[in-house]
Amino acid sequence: MEVKTSLLDNMIGVGDMVLLEPLTEDSFIENLRNRFDHNEIYTYIGSVVISMNPYRSLPIFTPEKVEEYRNRNFYELSPHIYALADEAYRSLRDQDKDQCILITGESGAGKTEASKLVMSYVAAVCGKGQEVNKVKEQLLQSNPVLEAFGNAKTVRNDNSSRFGKYMDIEFDFKGDPVGGVISNYLLEKSRVVKQPRGERNFHIFYQLLSGASDDTLRKLKLDRDFSKYNYLSLDSANVNGLDDAANFRTVRNAMQIVGFMEDEVQSVLELVAAVLKLGNIEFKPESRSNGYDESRVKDKNDLKEMCELLGIEQSVLERAFSYRTVEAKLEKVSTTLNVSQAYYARDALAKNLYSRLFSWLVTRINESIKAQSKTRHKVMGVLDIYGFEIFEDNSFEQFIINYCNEKLQQIFIELTLREEQEEYIREDIEWTNIEYFNNAVICDLIENNQNGILAMLDEECLRPGTVTDITFLDKLNTVCAEHQHFESRLSKNSKFLTDHSLPHSCFRIQHYAGKVLYRVEGFMDKNNDLLYRDLSQAMYKANHKLIKQLFPEGNPAKVNLKRPPTAGFQFKHSVGTLMRNLQTKNPNYIRCVKPNDKKAPRIFTDSLVRHQVAYLGLMENVRVRRAGYAYRQAYEPCLERYKMLCKQTWPHWKGPTREGVEVLMADLQVSTEEFAYGNSKIFIRNPRTLFSLEEKRRGCLENLAALIQKIYRGWKCRTHFLLLKRSQVVVAAWYRRYAQQKKYTQIKSATIMVQSYSRGWKARKILRELKHQKRCEEAATTIAAYWHGTQARRELRRLKEEARNKHAVSVIWAGWQGTKARRELKRLKKEARRRHAVAVIWAYWLGLKVRREYRKFFRANAGRKIYSFIMQRLMQKYFLGLKRDLPSMSPIGGSWPTRPYRFLDTAHTELRSIFHHWRCKKYRSRFTDERKAVFEEKLQASEIFKDKKALYPSSVGQPFRGDYLEISKNPKYQKLSSAMDEKVLLADMVNKINRANGKGTARIFLLTKNNFVLADQKTGQVKASVPLPDLASISVSTQNDGFFALKLKEGSAGATKGDFLLSSEHLIEIITKLRRTGATAVNHNHLDIDISDEFLVQFKQDKVCVKFVQGAPKNGNGASCKRKNNRLLEVSVPSTA
Ligand SMILES: Nc1ncnc2c1ncn2[C@@H]1O[C@H](COP(=O)(O)OP(=O)(O)OP(=O)(O)O)[C@@H](O)[C@H]1O
Ligand SMILES: [Mg+2]
Repeated sequence: MEVKTSLLDNMIGVGDMVLLEPLTEDSFIENLRNRFDHNEIYTYIGSVVISMNPYRSLPIFTPEKVEEYRNRNFYELSPHIYALADEAYRSLRDQDKDQCILITGESGAGKTEASKLVMSYVAAVCGKGQEVNKVKEQLLQSNPVLEAFGNAKTVRNDNSSRFGKYMDIEFDFKGDPVGGVISNYLLEKSRVVKQPRGERNFHIFYQLLSGASDDTLRKLKLDRDFSKYNYLSLDSANVNGLDDAANFRTVRNAMQIVGFMEDEVQSVLELVAAVLKLGNIEFKPESRSNGYDESRVKDKNDLKEMCELLGIEQSVLERAFSYRTVEAKLEKVSTTLNVSQAYYARDALAKNLYSRLFSWLVTRINESIKAQSKTRHKVMGVLDIYGFEIFEDNSFEQFIINYCNEKLQQIFIELTLREEQEEYIREDIEWTNIEYFNNAVICDLIENNQNGILAMLDEECLRPGTVTDITFLDKLNTVCAEHQHFESRLSKNSKFLTDHSLPHSCFRIQHYAGKVLYRVEGFMDKNNDLLYRDLSQAMYKANHKLIKQLFPEGNPAKVNLKRPPTAGFQFKHSVGTLMRNLQTKNPNYIRCVKPNDKKAPRIFTDSLVRHQVAYLGLMENVRVRRAGYAYRQAYEPCLERYKMLCKQTWPHWKGPTREGVEVLMADLQVSTEEFAYGNSKIFIRNPRTLFSLEEKRRGCLENLAALIQKIYRGWKCRTHFLLLKRSQVVVAAWYRRYAQQKKYTQIKSATIMVQSYSRGWKARKILRELKHQKRCEEAATTIAAYWHGTQARRELRRLKEEARNKHAVSVIWAGWQGTKARRELKRLKKEARRRHAVAVIWAYWLGLKVRREYRKFFRANAGRKIYSFIMQRLMQKYFLGLKRDLPSMSPIGGSWPTRPYRFLDTAHTELRSIFHHWRCKKYRSRFTDERKAVFEEKLQASEIFKDKKALYPSSVGQPFRGDYLEISKNPKYQKLSSAMDEKVLLADMVNKINRANGKGTARIFLLTKNNFVLADQKTGQVKASVPLPDLASISVSTQNDGFFALKLKEGSAGATKGDFLLSSEHLIEIITKLRRTGATAVNHNHLDIDISDEFLVQFKQDKVCVKFVQGAPKNGNGASCKRKNNRLLEVSVPSTA
């Protein structure tokens, strides 16, 4: 919620001087002092802001402050320059009213600072964006540039603006700045050549020498030492708190931001350097033949350097310092200049050079900052102009300045009154005439075209003949003598003849702000502002772009014999323009006041402030403002502020606010003369009334505060109490629960304990009993076991005893027998040894005898005997070895031991054959008749097919099973089986090849001892039964197929239908069996079996050739039969590759 505040809150003194009671100069100053002591540097007079220079930085210009004052009403917060800036900006933006902010005050009062604060506030609150920010930056950065060239240290202000400045900031319809225009007024150019004691020349000279790089200085032919330049006063060249070098960098940077080109900056610096050089040119007199002195340049070095800098021919400039050419109509008169005239010319050139440079800078800045679009802009003008000046010694400048302030005061009064009056009309309040001092008469004294002081001055300047400042004063004494605001010792009416405060060479004007005494000395010169034409022409001839531009009157092609307008005239003209400009705008005033002369913080010099209050016309200001009604406030904030003073309006008033205020005022019984109701505001005549309202409000607020406090405290205590109560209930409940829970747990654990003890006790009792019982049982068992053990052991012992006895007997017996046997063995061994010995001895003896006997025959027989013995031994060994290593009895076992000796080769092979035949015989002898028959069949199959038919090898391993259909067992063939009265030798499934298309039809093939039968595969019905004797031959192919043709004898019973072409998987078996059986059946040995790949088959009447060809290899081995034509059936057999 936004908190509505008011200027009246927490006021120190009064924030608005219109509320001052009583209104006297003392109370006014006291209020200022009081506020100043409390750091309240701003005070209002209605909408005018009085600003006291704090001479120290206060924390009241922060971004937070900007936000605080942003979009707030003027009287809502304590007085601040931001409030004025905000009011002006919002009324410009929202109500499309052009604004001007007039900042006045004496030197050092803070005008320039105030103008910067206003500009920075507006920059902070207006729109943002790249373009807008650039414009803002350029506008703000124009300040340091102008300050460097236009400000100087004076005794009153270290950064005193030595020119008047008015800046129009232009805004678009959104309130974003789009550009600006700066006007400058009357630069104090005399400062260039001479500065009063304790003051300095313009900052730029010092900044250049301190801050420029060595290289730049070399280019500019300058020396860093200030003392080398006559135009730079030395006594206060260095100013405390001013860093010239840093400021130089700031200025260069600012110039760059504003948009100066590098060569422009360079030209500007060259001009500054030229002015310094110019100051160093000195002259010496040179006597001429005509007795007059003529000036000559003393040391030409500086002149040379200056000419080099500006591209001027040295001789031209040198001549311009020595001669002066006066042109009148067609005549040209050249006169020599003496030394003092040369110095005058030099200084005039320096002043002109500098002031024109300054004006050029302003123009150049304007070029950069001017708004791009041509549409109408809203304008906010900021006027930072020198304030009223009253010195001991006042000259032409003060006169001009004070004239300007006089004009400003005039429009101030005009506009303030007009505003006041407008408000009264707007609010429908009766206008009471206000008595005030109108200074129009003083303005008239100065600016009147016929007899105004400025007009007199111009007239005197233009008048031929001897004219001096004194002749000018004389003229004033005549013309203005009767004017009530003009005073002069020698005025015609002799009113001031005895006034010794008025010197003879002075005149005094009673300005609205006080009397000022002007010394006329220099008025004429300064007004003339004369620059010899030779100099301007010399400047024009310079080979320097900027210089040429600055002295256009030097162009010989445009020689103008008319005198240039005087300074006074120019100033009057520009002030007139300014005033007209200001009058079209809504004015906002900032009156700057300087608290002391020491530039020191916290010092408030009464007399100084009193003086300023007087000449700024602040008291006048308050009086005007208070003339009718001192204070006014819109109904809404008024009701909001005082509604608590009346029961009907507190806390809320439902009706229109004006009625609310009326009810409120009636209830408070405020006298009706004290206020008036406007359309949107209430007007209060006396501040007293307002303060009494404020007093009541304060009292009421205290009561309200106490009430609020009371209610709040009550509420707080009650809330606290209720909270405590609720907490207590919760705590109690929890506690009870806890206590019960604890008790329950205790009881439960006690119960469990008791229970467990009792259960334990019972259990132990039972255990004891059980244990006892068990022990009893175990004891009985143990006793029994022991008893039985004892018995058993006893028996065992007995038996062992018995056995031991028996064993002992047998051992003894055995021992005895052993002993006997060993004795016998020993005896027998002994006897055998004896016998052997006898035999050996006998043999030896015999051998000896034989050897003796046959010694003579030995040689003839021994060899043969030994040979036969050895042979016998070898054969014996061979046969025994063969016996041991005989191979397996399997007829197919191929192994045979290797022969040990070559001479046994034949015997060994023979023995192998014998052994093989023998084992085959053994193997055969194990065969049954059926098995024998099978082998015979296999043998026969081999005879028939081996190496003749490719199908044969695959059939060798397959046993001939005969009945493949299990015909007797399978109920499906029961009928067929029963129809056969002979034993079925072979039953198989065959394909009967259809002679028409070569396709096969499944048939059961049965072979009995005398017939072969073909029956239906499904029904078992006999399709053909052929006696074997009718079978003439069988034809098969050489290939890996199962096709066979059964050819019948011609004329036989079965041959009527023709031969059979069949195929079977068991072809080898079928044909072998057919041949064996057929042979026995017909009792002849031959049933021809024709094996060839092409044979003829008789089908009924036709003979068809069956031809076997090799087809492509296939996965399955099914050969396919196709009828090729009437005479050819082709069987394609897949190759087995
Ligand atoms: N609001 C302020 N806060 C702090 N210091 C201030 C303020 N206003 C002014 N000053 C101080 O006072 C000095 C003089 O102020 P300023 O230059 O604005 O005076 P001025 O009125 O423009 O004088 P002149 O007429 O000589 O140009 C400043 O340099 C600054 O030190
Ligand atoms: Mg200033």
